[in-house]
Amino acid sequence: MDTVIMKADAPGVVQIAANYIKEGQLVAIPTETVYGLGANGLDENAVAKIFEAKGRPQDNPLILHVADAADIERFCHQIPQSAWVLAKAFWPGPLTMVLPALDIVPKATTAGLPTVAVRCPDCQVTRDIIRAAGVPVAAPSANLSGKPSTTTAEHVYHDHAGKFPLIVDGGSSRVGVESTIIDLTEQPPRLLRPGGITLEQLESILGEVTVDKAVTASVANDEVVKAPGMKYRHYAPQCEVIIVSGSTEAAASFIRSRYQAGERVLCFAEELELYAQCDPLAYGSEADPQTLSAGLFDALRQLDKPGITKVYARCPVGGGIARAVQNRLYKAAGFKSVNAEEEV
Ligand code: TXA
Ligand code: MG
Repeated sequence: MDTVIMKADAPGVVQIAANYIKEGQLVAIPTETVYGLGANGLDENAVAKIFEAKGRPQDNPLILHVADAADIERFCHQIPQSAWVLAKAFWPGPLTMVLPALDIVPKATTAGLPTVAVRCPDCQVTRDIIRAAGVPVAAPSANLSGKPSTTTAEHVYHDHAGKFPLIVDGGSSRVGVESTIIDLTEQPPRLLRPGGITLEQLESILGEVTVDKAVTASVANDEVVKAPGMKYRHYAPQCEVIIVSGSTEAAASFIRSRYQAGERVLCFAEELELYAQCDPLAYGSEADPQTLSAGLFDALRQLDKPGITKVYARCPVGGGIARAVQNRLYKAAGFKSVNAEEEV
């Protein structure tokens, strides 16, 4: 099958995409976080195609995307007041809420869990497609399972050309890392994945929020975790990735004294000159962590090449969006890190 890329403003694109979804086919859709691989979230057979195309483990549930906050009443029950407050504050936007699922949501979508994750994306063409299809769109990130997420139509084409008919091209994803996931079925609510809506923003509305341990530490494959996706190795280039923390100077001295040909340094734009001899790749500016979040997955994809033997990575510190960058980069590194200030 030919996979066609259509621009988000091409004539007829909304109806064409909606028709494919109604027919039970897959369509890659842009969102402000990352590109998603979408299908009718109420159709088990359509959802099965997502798992097949991605090579995704069956126990990893999908997010249902809706066009309007009010739609969640069709798929969820026992919706707490806090969900409506969060929706009013942050939707459309990079926030996913986990809520008790109604039976209308198939087990294929929830991976058999009694809950379902719901999100209203901040992308007009995608909300238009969902509305025109008349069904919620189940969509994981459109990368092959385990690979860095997709932030452009080209990334999706690279991973999936020939598998499904249409990629809707909405340009580069603005946020660049996947949505924040908050589980509202617990009290206090639990942050399952940091993203574009920050922990601080959630706390300002919810008060206390528990941060799930899978956010900051690796989880064994047989451990039960709240967001099954958090336990898998993810985002990783083929080679070893090691995070080098510590001051700019300490990290530069650590990396430069160990660097060998074939290795790469993933760093901040401010550090490029320091690593001039070490084949550096900057993914954004340390002074503006939003640029790091927007650039991270494209950079990890550039480093996912045979011949690269090791990547030394610099990671931002602090809260806000930097927390999401830390989470993705530590997962890409399999939580392997060294503090340059403690090494000689
Ligand atoms: O920004 C995003 O959220 C993107 C775009 C396409 O919307 N989607 C995305 O989907 O990142 P995916 O499948 O790559 O990640 C979904 C995460 C997984 O870690 C999964 O385990 C978790 O959400 N999840 C889904 N349903 C859940 C549920 N009922 N309870 C707990 N975690 C859930
Ligand atoms: Mg994903």
